[in-house]
Amino acid sequence: MTAKDGAIVAIDGPAGAGKSTAARLLAERLGYVLIDTGALYRAVALAAKERGIAWDDAEALGALTASLELRFEPPEAGARPPLLVDGEDRSTDIRAPDISQGASQVSAHPPVRAALLGVQRAMGEAGGCVLEGRDIGTVVFPNADVKVFLTASLDSRVGRRFDELVGAGAETDRDAVRAEMETRDARDSGREVAPLKPADDAVRLDSTDLDLEEVVERLAAIVREAGFSAR
Ligand code: DC
Repeated sequence: MTAKDGAIVAIDGPAGAGKSTAARLLAERLGYVLIDTGALYRAVALAAKERGIAWDDAEALGALTASLELRFEPPEAGARPPLLVDGEDRSTDIRAPDISQGASQVSAHPPVRAALLGVQRAMGEAGGCVLEGRDIGTVVFPNADVKVFLTASLDSRVGRRFDELVGAGAETDRDAVRAEMETRDARDSGREVAPLKPADDAVRLDSTDLDLEEVVERLAAIVREAGFSAR
């Protein structure tokens, strides 16, 4: 074994597969740190919007990304770790629907991905962490101790995201959520650099017919089978 303090657990998959809640609960159960890498791309989209930088201006976005100070704070019980962007908590602002699309757009640009690669590796290299994203097992930590590709049918992903948005007070309908999700899936899977795809050695987990508790149970079993326990 290495001198790492626990496993590096990579959970990749498309939007709405249940990654973020399952990853948070798994991290809580293991006593691990949760690293929500999508939040970092969201922070870039938000900062660009506020500074008038277009989401297709790869060069300016790369420079912007490199200039941002991105840090997760330890979370309150039952919550995601707050994301501080240049010292300010932007956890709520990065969840706006237009920022979801913006994050997907900015994440297609190699300079943005390159700038965030080092950030993600620095956050996770000590181990004892659950990283959730799109390319953790393929690019960010290709030697992760545990790799899971969590997916679900489009219908169930749309349903979950719809419930989540309505629960958060957003006004939307299922068709809009479906259209948004299809656009994002196509862009995230179709981009040239680090597209969304399972690592060859990832365990594939389909959450379509599982409830959250069952998903977390399966994830915990996968970690256990890889020889790691809670710390
Ligand atoms: O997981 P999320 O919905 O917060 O991610 C927002 C966008 O960020 C997603 O559409 C694609 C991008 N992303 C990425 O390209 N690579 C990651 N590791 C995480 C997210």
